Amino acid sequence: MSSIVDSRFSMELEEKEYELCGHPVKITMFKGASLGVSSYVWGPGLVLCRYFEAEKIDFTGKKVIELGSGTGIVGILAVLLGGDVTMTDRSDVLKQIEYNLIANVPLSSRHRTKIRALEWGNDQHKFPADFDIVLGSDLVYSPSQFSKLLQTLLHFCNDNTIMYLCSDVKYREGSARFHDKLLPEKFSSELIHTSGSSCVFKVTKKVPGDEY
Ligand SMILES: C[S@@+](CC[C@H](N)C(=O)[O-])C[C@H]1O[C@@H](n2cnc3c(N)ncnc32)[C@H](O)[C@@H]1O
Repeated sequence: MSSIVDSRFSMELEEKEYELCGHPVKITMFKGASLGVSSYVWGPGLVLCRYFEAEKIDFTGKKVIELGSGTGIVGILAVLLGGDVTMTDRSDVLKQIEYNLIANVPLSSRHRTKIRALEWGNDQHKFPADFDIVLGSDLVYSPSQFSKLLQTLLHFCNDNTIMYLCSDVKYREGSARFHDKLLPEKFSSELIHTSGSSCVFKVTKKVPGDEY
């Protein structure tokens, strides 16, 4: 980890380096840009990356959208694993995602990337609903956002969509209730991997009879 001050942004930047699925990934966090929780690489994001690594997940040919990208670590890995990836977050976070995308994704793959503002509950209808994969790590921590997050997930979940959500179910407020109660009311949700208190859920459209 190193900490630098970049005069282009007149703020402190903190860098962390990872090796993910055989790819060196350098993530810069815009500390001092008042991005709050967005300027950290959170445990559930890393756990989701390590899950893709362990399962040798290949996103080639898949249309992927990531919600709440933050630093972009998960979406960037999905690009490096072949996906056609739209990374989203609140508008003030997009510069950080772009910085990391440019640092890690070769020019030859950038045509498979997009960075867009998406505020849950407000913006999802501006996006098509034909994504194969939805990614979300450490999105479940603020109960006031749960219903907006669910509306957004519902928009993106079609018959064939697979959503990989990774949450800290112990230390994030309301997370256990979200995953045990709220999410299963609307979706089929299966716990597929655990690392410490971070859990990866595979979430798909609810089919009639699922609840019995
Ligand atoms: C705890 S951070 C996780 C960042 C990243 N996914 C990770 O795992 O490191 C949560 C992210 O969700 C975004 N977020 C929270 N509420 C949101 C909302 N209502 N609409 C859009 N993004 C939101 C935040 O801006 C932040 O980047």
